[in-house]
Amino acid sequence: MSVRGIVAGVRVWIAGALVAALLVAVLAGTGARASIGNARDRLIETVESWRAPSFAVPAGWPKPVYDFSGNPVTRAGFALGRRLFYDPQLSRDGSTSCASCHQQFAAFAHYDHPVSHGIRNQNGTRNAPGLFNLAWQPALMWDGSVHHLEVQPLAPISNPVEMDESIEHVVAKLSADDTYKKDFAAAFGSPGIDSQRLLKAMTQFVGTMVSAGSRYDRYTRGEPDALTATERDGLALFRARCASCHAEPLLTDFSYRNNGLDAAPRDRGRETVTAKEGDFARFRVPSLRNVALTPPYMHDGRYDTLEQVVDHYADTVQPSPTLDPQLAGGVTLDAAQRAALVAFLKSLSDERFVHDRRYAEARR
Ligand code: HEC
Ligand code: HEC
Repeated sequence: MSVRGIVAGVRVWIAGALVAALLVAVLAGTGARASIGNARDRLIETVESWRAPSFAVPAGWPKPVYDFSGNPVTRAGFALGRRLFYDPQLSRDGSTSCASCHQQFAAFAHYDHPVSHGIRNQNGTRNAPGLFNLAWQPALMWDGSVHHLEVQPLAPISNPVEMDESIEHVVAKLSADDTYKKDFAAAFGSPGIDSQRLLKAMTQFVGTMVSAGSRYDRYTRGEPDALTATERDGLALFRARCASCHAEPLLTDFSYRNNGLDAAPRDRGRETVTAKEGDFARFRVPSLRNVALTPPYMHDGRYDTLEQVVDHYADTVQPSPTLDPQLAGGVTLDAAQRAALVAFLKSLSDERFVHDRRYAEARR
């Protein structure tokens, strides 16, 4: 049966279940109606989550940087990308998958891990960022060292403290697996496993992770009650003090800045890419979408809570030659303003995205 057939079948089944449920509701009186409404919403959401993934630009957002016209998203290509993302065979000893460090419940960051934690229990030096809205990023990584979404997986695969593998060897391992042979043929219309196909399929998976469903989004799309009064105060403060770098709607302007974490920074940041002294200790301004789900914070995961981050901007901004002039002397914030900012930051979580079953590990 085709996927469409299954979805249609499920719809018929749901219709039947709803009729039965409605009968019960009529018998039980009006009280049951609300809960049946909720059950129906849940069922519809589940069915929707089985739809073929596609890439759509949320209303009011800029044009994405990654162009899917060269890599059209198909159900089979996306499913292959998902399988690869969750497959530890991409690491040398079969211990570590992309999902080991990018967990869906944490908006695909590595929950509670200050720096990357990879193969043979080794630690890297930087915090694993959440993965979403990647198609809009002009460059990837904290220092912008990767310029194209399609080649990005090569970095963790070959990194000795992450997956410590070569793409050639990954291709050889997958080529020995009949189920992968089938999945690659289904995704690309002809037999053959190679690195280009692997990277394209992975991009169909990570590139379609679009997160635009937080309460803040509902508020900006015209639902005033989606934010509480405190959160709205926080948004106003955020627009005045933070949005010059964490620009709406993506909540980053994709520039590289030094936000004053250290007087004598150890990680050279953007300078390692451009070799320009002025880029010393500058890091990509991170998106703050889903930020409450992705602790710890900053490129080295030094802060565990959003309260600590806000206190940093108010109390501990360190002067250094490349400190962003906007932050010189810190940001003046009283206790109520700090609390409002934190409340606002917590309204940026997109529960639908972190529970979207299309991005969870497939049950095989
Ligand atoms: C051992 C942990 C680890 C593994 C495994 C891992 N990553 Fe990452 N990932 C990181 C870290 C740490 C960074 C940030 C690196 C930096 O900025 O220098 C990162 C960055 C990224 C980024 C850039 C995000 C951004 O906002 O710039 C993408 C995309 C990504 N990883 C995808 C993947 C994929 C796909 C795989 C599997 C092939 C993978 N990662 C495997 C830890 C990991
Ligand atoms: C001058 C630009 C700039 C301004 C203004 C600014 N930030 Fe940032 N912000 C950054 C940069 C750059 C980083 C990453 C720094 C690093 O890790 O080295 C960052 C990191 C963060 C993080 C951590 C996110 C994560 O995923 O690790 C949070 C939260 C944050 N900022 C909130 C705020 C708030 C709240 C304000 C306003 C009070 C603010 N920022 C103002 C540039 C800025």
